[in-house]
Amino acid sequence: MTERAYELFKNLPVLETPRLRLRKLSLRDAGDVFEYASLPEVAQHVTWEYHRNISDSVHYLRFITQQYIEGIPSPWGIIHKENAKLIGTIGYHVWSIANRSGEVGYALSKEYWNQGYTSEAFCEVIKYGFEHMMLERIEATCKLLNTASEKVMLKCGMQFEGIMRKKLFAKGEYHDLKLYSLLKEDWEKINSISARK
Ligand SMILES: CC(C)(COP(=O)(O)OP(=O)(O)OC[C@H]1O[C@@H](n2cnc3c(N)ncnc32)[C@H](O)[C@@H]1OP(=O)(O)O)[C@@H](O)C(=O)NCCC(=O)NCCS
Repeated sequence: MTERAYELFKNLPVLETPRLRLRKLSLRDAGDVFEYASLPEVAQHVTWEYHRNISDSVHYLRFITQQYIEGIPSPWGIIHKENAKLIGTIGYHVWSIANRSGEVGYALSKEYWNQGYTSEAFCEVIKYGFEHMMLERIEATCKLLNTASEKVMLKCGMQFEGIMRKKLFAKGEYHDLKLYSLLKEDWEKINSISARK
């Protein structure tokens, strides 16, 4: 990890969208994390197990806050501006400086699904990646049946690249994953078209 990456994740900046604020997670978020991460449905398509009790959420937040200290790629917390509640996480969990590529993951509280929140946050995280992390390529993956996640990728302009067979071993079994990506040049084209509208 270079000095730049170290500094970035150590001092992860606050990002703003019309309805959301993305900021570093802290141990004070344990209650909100537990509220959504304790639902088996939210954890169905991700690598982590649903949280059985609040100490699972505290453990998760200790892990992430330690990663910030070490400058390791880590997520932002997604804050709903209207009620100041933490409703999910999103961020780069892979950043290859040599290849100028990054991979993003996200999860949102079920209460807030299907209202465009993750797409709103993801588009901002993409913008940040291309404008401040010098990325040329941003990737995201999802399990074959995770239609909502795939929709988020499509709404942010990503292109389907294919299915990676048995790419993930999680919760005792192998999973095929759909691979989506967005190149900086394509993102710039999308932006210039929407600016002309
Ligand atoms: C995936 C997830 C983050 C999406 O968050 P979200 O805020 O609901 O996403 P958005 O509202 O921005 O977009 C979801 C889109 O999927 C659509 N959708 C949701 N479920 C769907 C389904 N079963 N079939 C078809 N479309 C579906 C929604 O209608 C919406 O599209 P629209 O805006 O065109 O109507 C959320 O479902 C989640 O947290 N899931 C559990 C964790 C997870 O799977 N994370 C991703 C791991 S790859």
